[in-house]
Amino acid sequence: MTINIRPPTGPTASPQGRDVPIVAELREVSKSYGAANNRVMALDRLSLKVVQGEYLAVMGASGSGKSTAMNILGCLDQPSGGEYWLENCLTAGLGDDQLADLRNRKLGFVFQQFYLLRELTALENVMLPMAYAGVSRGLQRQRAEAALVRVGLGERLHNRPNQLSGGQQQRVAIARAIINRPVLLLADEPTGALDSNTSNEVMDLFGELHREGMTVILVTHEHDVAARAEKILHFADGRIQEASTPASLSPATAAAGGPSWGTHPSPVAVPSPSPRPDQATPILPGSSVTVQDPCSIYRGYTGIVQRISGRRAAVLFEGGNWDKLVTLQLSQLRGR
Ligand SMILES: Nc1ncnc2c1ncn2[C@@H]1O[C@H](COP(=O)(O)OP(=O)(O)OP(=O)(O)O)[C@@H](O)[C@H]1O
Ligand SMILES: [Mg+2]
Repeated sequence: MTINIRPPTGPTASPQGRDVPIVAELREVSKSYGAANNRVMALDRLSLKVVQGEYLAVMGASGSGKSTAMNILGCLDQPSGGEYWLENCLTAGLGDDQLADLRNRKLGFVFQQFYLLRELTALENVMLPMAYAGVSRGLQRQRAEAALVRVGLGERLHNRPNQLSGGQQQRVAIARAIINRPVLLLADEPTGALDSNTSNEVMDLFGELHREGMTVILVTHEHDVAARAEKILHFADGRIQEASTPASLSPATAAAGGPSWGTHPSPVAVPSPSPRPDQATPILPGSSVTVQDPCSIYRGYTGIVQRISGRRAAVLFEGGNWDKLVTLQLSQLRGR
């Protein structure tokens, strides 16, 4: 597997002079649909840097490319041209499994139509992304309950979607979106199907998540919804025509932000890896290793090699109340 590490554009300086990591970057991204004589350019060399803790609203006429951009940012679709970097990982070279891992671990989605599974309760819907991530069932339940309490649905854990109001269903969808502590929360017209009171409650929740450090991009057609963001990107013809600051944005809000998100119990600490290929330590059974592949869902995890077979190693990760044995390529690991 080829690992593409971010070229040295590095973090960007915040208005307060701090270095803030770039969470997502679109570089001259184009997306076209249809054959040559009938081609629609949904995105036309769109460039965008999203820094950690930012809260962006996206507005623009119908057909201006908002959902197409969100689908690419969410790894639901691939660009026809240009590059999409999610944290330090170039998404272009990734296979379907790796993209699915990225979506599950790093991205949260909220859609206008909620897309909850009808036959599952609120609790089960929120547990689902953790099941895909291999979290133990006990921990899934514990974290899903906490997330539902967090969004004000502690009394509704066992209700199915058809037993919940639209606003409550959207809260479940938000809890599901944030349950794996994504680096980026994407919402495409999340209040589009809600009345104005419910819409305000849901937007209050996005505001709270942002103040806790979540990076948020939200598409809307409503000015009062967009006005809650830090910055509004105005799309036209598949490009950002203008970026504006909502008039309502107070200096205090502008100075807030910053990476305080991540206060949920974490199964294991995820330190940032610093590969040192010049000082490579041999990897043998019993070695302590760190996963250095920036595209792996286990990036930064430290474990002990149990066995080596050819170019693959079985690595045991130990958490507070769980163990996990994972097979990884030797090239994904760094000896410690
Ligand atoms: N799968 C597709 N096949 C063909 N054309 C598409 C496809 N998806 C989007 N398009 C076209 O790409 C353009 C951008 O669509 P997109 O859905 O991104 O717009 P939007 O800004 O989200 O609009 P809206 O506000 O109505 O949701 C439109 O012209 C649309 O018809
Ligand atoms: Mg759309």
